[in-house]
Amino acid sequence: MPLRVEGELRVPSDKSISHRAIIIGSLADGEVRVKNWLRSADTLATLNIYRALGTRIEELSPTELVVRGGGLFSFREPGDILNAENSGTTTRLTLGVLSAQPFFAVLTGDHSLRRRPMLRVVKPLREMGATIDGREEGNLLPIAVRGGRLKGISFFNKKASAQVKSALLLAGLHAEGITEVEEPYLSRDHTERMLQLFEVDLTVIPAFGGVLVKLKGGQQPKGDKDIFVPADPSSAAFFAAAAVLLPGSKLLLKDVLINPTRDGFFRKLKEMGANIEYTNVRELSMEPIADIYVEYSPNLRGVRVFPEEVPAMIDELPLLAVVATQAEGETRIEGAAELRVKESDRIKAVVENLRKMGAKVEELPDGMVIEGKTPLRGGVEIKTYDDHRIAMAFTIAGLIADKPVKLDNPQCVSVSYPQFFEDLKRVLKEG
Ligand code: S3P
Repeated sequence: MPLRVEGELRVPSDKSISHRAIIIGSLADGEVRVKNWLRSADTLATLNIYRALGTRIEELSPTELVVRGGGLFSFREPGDILNAENSGTTTRLTLGVLSAQPFFAVLTGDHSLRRRPMLRVVKPLREMGATIDGREEGNLLPIAVRGGRLKGISFFNKKASAQVKSALLLAGLHAEGITEVEEPYLSRDHTERMLQLFEVDLTVIPAFGGVLVKLKGGQQPKGDKDIFVPADPSSAAFFAAAAVLLPGSKLLLKDVLINPTRDGFFRKLKEMGANIEYTNVRELSMEPIADIYVEYSPNLRGVRVFPEEVPAMIDELPLLAVVATQAEGETRIEGAAELRVKESDRIKAVVENLRKMGAKVEELPDGMVIEGKTPLRGGVEIKTYDDHRIAMAFTIAGLIADKPVKLDNPQCVSVSYPQFFEDLKRVLKEG
């Protein structure tokens, strides 16, 4: 029976902004009301950590929080190890906050997070004055921090990592003097936007094709604010891909964040020839949002993804590879070596699973080349590596295959999208 997606859907809220609403909300000096918060395994890890550090967080409903922080230096020494579970954002941003606190804290995480590199953030934080140690000389969790008085530094963020930039800006808020972070390409800028919403004075200047973000230490973020969190483009992407790939589909994705540092996947789909349109464009809590209308798009063409385009679609690249199997000609993704140190090695996971389904894919050290159009073969077991984005990308691949696929761990979607399968069922139609 042919499948299509149809109707309207508001996917869960943005994960990056939901983490930051708690973290920056905890640093503010008054009440912060968070509306449409994402409640998922990753963001709950953040909530539990900030409660353990002394922030009072009231849950008015599953998606509505009141965060009562007491200002920059109001945290207390946690009585136990802090567990960030599967969340790199929680870990790296919190390392920035802990570096400035006059106490001892230890952070750990699950089997995947304990393999992910932390020296990228530990090194500059040490340079600012924090005492940090951990396995592999501070590269791997568990990591212990003894924070203290920090001084601002100038840092070149070579990998354009938003987590590193955010950690340094949050540490820099507490530091003496100026903290500067320069990046070759602009990475997601939610920390900068939210700090500005909290009346922190921060400068963003174009620099050598990239950008320089600069802030003066000692500024207290002002509370008594509302934050509305928009729908997550990284979650909406799975449904946009389903609509593009399944004949007869017409889907409206509501309230989606279209920040230019995040909407690269949708722009790339358009470049591939997809029928996709932003409507009702507006702004919410300093972030641009839109309703995204997507239709079945039978004439997709292969494209190139250049290194400078990677940050704005980094989490959607596994899904883009799935879509590329249905595009005419070659799709080449380069400059994406960071995919190897995400929740799993996403280059390896995508290449292995796509090949299992009969796609033609070449593995590159920093990306992949996909040759389309190839019909996908179902009836196989997908190895998710317990990675939510691999699980969801290959669920979409399964919809266009001749037979369904089986995921070895479907539950891992709870990291960012606990009700993914229910939402998919709701918009999926037969016949
Ligand atoms: C994130 C930044 C990105 C992204 C991750 C979320 C954030 O990671 O892949 O899913 O919220 O700052 P990097 O900073 O490692 O690029």
